[in-house]
Amino acid sequence: MQQSTTRLSGQQADPEFFRFEERGELDYALVLDVLHGRRLGVIFRDVIPPAARKDLTERFWASPARHHREGEPSHYVGAYHWNKDVDTYLDESAAVAEHVQQVIDAPDSPWHVFRQGVNEALREEGASLRVAQMNGRSACAALIRAWDKEGDFSLDPHEDEAQCKDPRQHGFEVQRVLDHQICAVNMCTEHTAGGRLVIWNIRPDDATRRSLGIEQTGLPYQAEALADFEELRLDIREGDVYAFNGAFVHAVDANAGNRTTVSFIMGFTDPRTVVSWT
Ligand SMILES: [Fe+2]
Repeated sequence: MQQSTTRLSGQQADPEFFRFEERGELDYALVLDVLHGRRLGVIFRDVIPPAARKDLTERFWASPARHHREGEPSHYVGAYHWNKDVDTYLDESAAVAEHVQQVIDAPDSPWHVFRQGVNEALREEGASLRVAQMNGRSACAALIRAWDKEGDFSLDPHEDEAQCKDPRQHGFEVQRVLDHQICAVNMCTEHTAGGRLVIWNIRPDDATRRSLGIEQTGLPYQAEALADFEELRLDIREGDVYAFNGAFVHAVDANAGNRTTVSFIMGFTDPRTVVSWT
């Protein structure tokens, strides 16, 4: 399908902002910088202990809830809120919750370690992190997925903001994160080759989304239209944990073999509350 090659409009960040901070150990103040919109992203190298990577990866591949449709490029355990009504998302999240927990409850799980660290850092400013809720029901705690798609991108260029505008999710608290920053979190527990994170210096506006017909999905943006903007390509390796502002268009480039990550999105809904969802 040929999509419009209309020039993308939106916000571009200053060069000082548009970079990833890199560290060899977890530093939650940097994650809070991303949540507060003070920096684009941060990557912590090799911070998931080898035994935890292996255990979590094995739990993922062995999970009876692992979805894979023939011909589709992904395997996943968890539920997506993307492009569906909120009741469906919460039903799916409830149905899979136990299986997600079984994967992320691996000993020394990066999901627990990271969230505890973020929570402690947030506490200093009187805030806390929890899974998003609606009418007493919970969003999915994590999405564990592996991509094996061929081509330029194993995950097509998209942003994580548009999906929070879906009117079918009206009243779901994640929509209040639109007044703050969207922070995507990924933890890589298995990696073979390739699969860099690609991020472009453009935060598309609604006019652009409307003209592309992706106002509530944020996917896909065409590579040709993105060529106008500066891009970063970041090697991702097993054991890495990274967090970045998901309102900027991003993708995963071609990868070979398995690239398994634990992921969720998070953001402030008010100065005291950070919620996460998938
Ligand atoms: Fe994303």
